[in-house]
Amino acid sequence: MPRKFCNVIKPTHICNLACTYCYNDDVRDPIMRDGTLIRTIEQTFAYARDRGFETVEFIWHGGEPMVPGLAWYEKAMAMQRELAGGMDYSNIIQTNGVLINEAWLEFFRKHDFDISISIDGPVRLHDEYRKTHQGKGSFDRVFRAINMVKDAGLPVGVCVVLSRATIAHVEEILEFFVENRLHFEVIPVTKSGGARNQYDLLGLDPVEYGEAWVKMYDAWLNLSKEDYVFCQDFVLKTRAVIHGHGAHCFGMANCSSDNISTDPVGDVFPCSTLSGTDEVKYGNICEDDLDTIMSARVAQMFIERPIDPECATCKWQHVCHGGCVARSWKFHGEIGKRDYYCPSLYRIHDHIEQRLTEQGIGAGAPHPFHMTDGIDPASRQSGTKPVNTAAAELRPASTVP
Ligand SMILES: C[S@@+](CC[C@H](N)C(=O)[O-])C[C@H]1O[C@@H](n2cnc3c(N)ncnc32)[C@H](O)[C@@H]1O
Ligand code: SF4
Ligand code: SF4
Repeated sequence: MPRKFCNVIKPTHICNLACTYCYNDDVRDPIMRDGTLIRTIEQTFAYARDRGFETVEFIWHGGEPMVPGLAWYEKAMAMQRELAGGMDYSNIIQTNGVLINEAWLEFFRKHDFDISISIDGPVRLHDEYRKTHQGKGSFDRVFRAINMVKDAGLPVGVCVVLSRATIAHVEEILEFFVENRLHFEVIPVTKSGGARNQYDLLGLDPVEYGEAWVKMYDAWLNLSKEDYVFCQDFVLKTRAVIHGHGAHCFGMANCSSDNISTDPVGDVFPCSTLSGTDEVKYGNICEDDLDTIMSARVAQMFIERPIDPECATCKWQHVCHGGCVARSWKFHGEIGKRDYYCPSLYRIHDHIEQRLTEQGIGAGAPHPFHMTDGIDPASRQSGTKPVNTAAAELRPASTVP
């Protein structure tokens, strides 16, 4: 796999929907100016090139990323072409889909976009929390958009949030995705934005997510060949257990050295879910170069995330690494503590191991370089991606917490 640097760019925090659980914490609502956009693209390529990354991924996010309009994106595409300097790059849009029309489809085709649309399952479940500003459900418009993208033959996946509204219905949600031939990603609700003050009402307890995940995973494993749909979280977590090192950002030891998020005014954060959180702001891309920003104390704190003592002795530390660093911040207000969903993560990895064993496939031993996310530190050029030295000294243990 080529080493990839990912910048999740938020062109705006404005949104045409008002989902009850939305984690967006930023109340400012500008649209990113041209100068900030040029600077963001230029610095992203420059940093990735200097640090020895082989490819750059731009994820357009928000707020609702389609709000700035097509002309804004045509400018962004022209800037990428001009500033890439021969570097490989790709574009993904994470959208609620509501604004998709023929002109956008043409744009996505022309610029080879991957498209991810948020939908929380069939109408009854989706409409519970994913609402318009008038409090009406958004399912019809979102589902129409998904079908338009599919009919146009463009690559589309969907993202489902497991929350109080959906947690008891994972098999029904899977059936819906199978019926509609939709590849999907599944994530648990985070305590943030709209979900912070009413977490008791719409959030999950740290154990129940794991139980639902396992139920959905088993139903997914039992799908016939004809019914198979790709699920990113299921595939990547299974791959992590087989290979013995983290396979996606939630389980990476170094996720913060490969991922950043830039907001509409150029503020840089460790993750799109932490955008607008002043305490974890790395810096501003219009004021400093990305190299300086990534050397800031807060950035280094994320890159060198301390390990929770419970994780250091955990059987699954080599694939989980304390779970999602952003969730640690959101739930505990500190990144050295393990993910709120730890009991679920432990159960999930144990369950995958058990299902693999039934198939005669063993879980991989901890990869020797799992603390550098599978990359041999010796193969890095000097001055390339920083290595989590504090963490690298810790050896994986095989005991259960
Ligand atoms: C903040 S939205 C921005 C992009 C776009 N507006 C959308 O809805 O896809 C990005 C993703 O985060 C998810 N999300 C929003 N609030 C969340 C929360 N509190 N916990 C977990 N995921 C959340 C959304 O469902 C969506 O899939
Ligand atoms: S989850 Fe996306 S669509 Fe829903 S309110 Fe938040 S930004 Fe808007
Ligand atoms: S399962 Fe829990 S204790 Fe184990 S590494 Fe993950 S977060 Fe840490």
